[in-house]
Amino acid sequence: MKKQWIYILFVSILVSCSSEDSNQQQEYIPVSTSLKIPKLFSDKLIAPIIPTKNPLTEEGVALGKKLFFDTILSRDNTQSCASCHDPKKAFTDDLPFSIGVDGKKGKRNSMPLFNLAWNFNERFAWDGKELSLERQAFEPVSNPIELHNDWKEIAIKLNDNSEYATLFNQAFGITKIDSTYVVKAIAQFERTLISANSKFDKFLLGQVTLTPEESNGFDVFMDEARGDCFHCHGSNNNPLWTNNKFHNNGLDATFTDLGLGAVTGDPKDNGKFRSPSLRNLAFTAPYMHDGRFATLQEVIDHYSEGLKDSPTIDPLMKKIDKGGVQLNPKDKADLKAFLLTLSDYDFISNPDFQE
Ligand code: HEC
Ligand code: HEC
Repeated sequence: MKKQWIYILFVSILVSCSSEDSNQQQEYIPVSTSLKIPKLFSDKLIAPIIPTKNPLTEEGVALGKKLFFDTILSRDNTQSCASCHDPKKAFTDDLPFSIGVDGKKGKRNSMPLFNLAWNFNERFAWDGKELSLERQAFEPVSNPIELHNDWKEIAIKLNDNSEYATLFNQAFGITKIDSTYVVKAIAQFERTLISANSKFDKFLLGQVTLTPEESNGFDVFMDEARGDCFHCHGSNNNPLWTNNKFHNNGLDATFTDLGLGAVTGDPKDNGKFRSPSLRNLAFTAPYMHDGRFATLQEVIDHYSEGLKDSPTIDPLMKKIDKGGVQLNPKDKADLKAFLLTLSDYDFISNPDFQE
């Protein structure tokens, strides 16, 4: 009996050695991975969107991260995605309008990147013009006011680079790199950017308490007779802190940027932009699609008494006839204190997300 076992062991070692040899010619199988879904998200939200055509793998995420930080994607090797999406600023920059490789200014404020897999209707950018993370990633590379490069040039550079050749082969089993795999890898990395560890998250999990000011600020946010913010920006029941829908929140009486209207061609959509998440505001100034407000104080003053009427003003801007929700100074200060409890310091220093 014992002999027989030794014999089987010997044969199986032989077989495994020889199969290892032939493995080198065989396709590398990437290790599949899944998002670490925070408890508040699994309790309150449906499952994140992972396209079946681009499942997460350890190799894909690591490759996407490398590409995100690599200036190889820009025409003159000076900029990467991270130039306008800095992890220390919750993946945005601190400019009203970002500057591209040619020193040209864009027309929109860079957006922070987190919890993107939970943007359930998959309309990305301020005006919803990008229909998935994969498709979005094509855009900045060729945009003349961003990385201003040619996808064919990038494919040549990446195919000539032996390190990238190996990494793409391991992530996707391909021997010829092209743009579709570049955007797949980047989208995989972007989906891992999860922010769910702010002071308010910890409060909801029963780990910390709020100050009386923060607590009153939350009431102002939820109270239809005071701030009335929650319809568009989430609540304790929506940890994304956005509805990801499009609204005109009364910034202008006439529009220089039509927002959603330019995408749909419908004048009823003019001046509508996607509600941004209110997570991580401590790191993402200036605010709004054009970065017009440098501080949260200015944002709060806007909603309190600065609203401008226009034909597409959102019906939820109920006090438009009074110019805003008319908060008193204490409620304004407390609302700001509450908003800051949504900032996640662990997210901006998470080593998985740094270069
Ligand atoms: C020159 C600055 C700049 C560079 C470089 C840049 N972006 Fe952006 N990014 C922006 C701006 C500005 C917006 C908002 C665009 C709009 O609304 O029209 C944006 C929006 C986005 C969004 C949409 C987020 C959301 O919630 O809708 C994603 C995702 C994104 N960028 C990823 C990337 C990736 C990936 C790269 C690299 C391939 C990149 N960006 C390079 C400035 C930049
Ligand atoms: C009708 C929906 C709606 C309501 C109600 C609303 N907002 Fe907004 N909010 C938006 C939209 C849309 C934007 C983006 C507008 C733009 O840039 O053109 C925005 C932008 C913001 C921003 C800027 C965030 C960033 O990253 O740039 C902050 C902060 C903000 N809102 C806070 C509040 C507060 C506080 C309240 C309540 C006093 C409130 N909002 C009520 C829809 C709304």
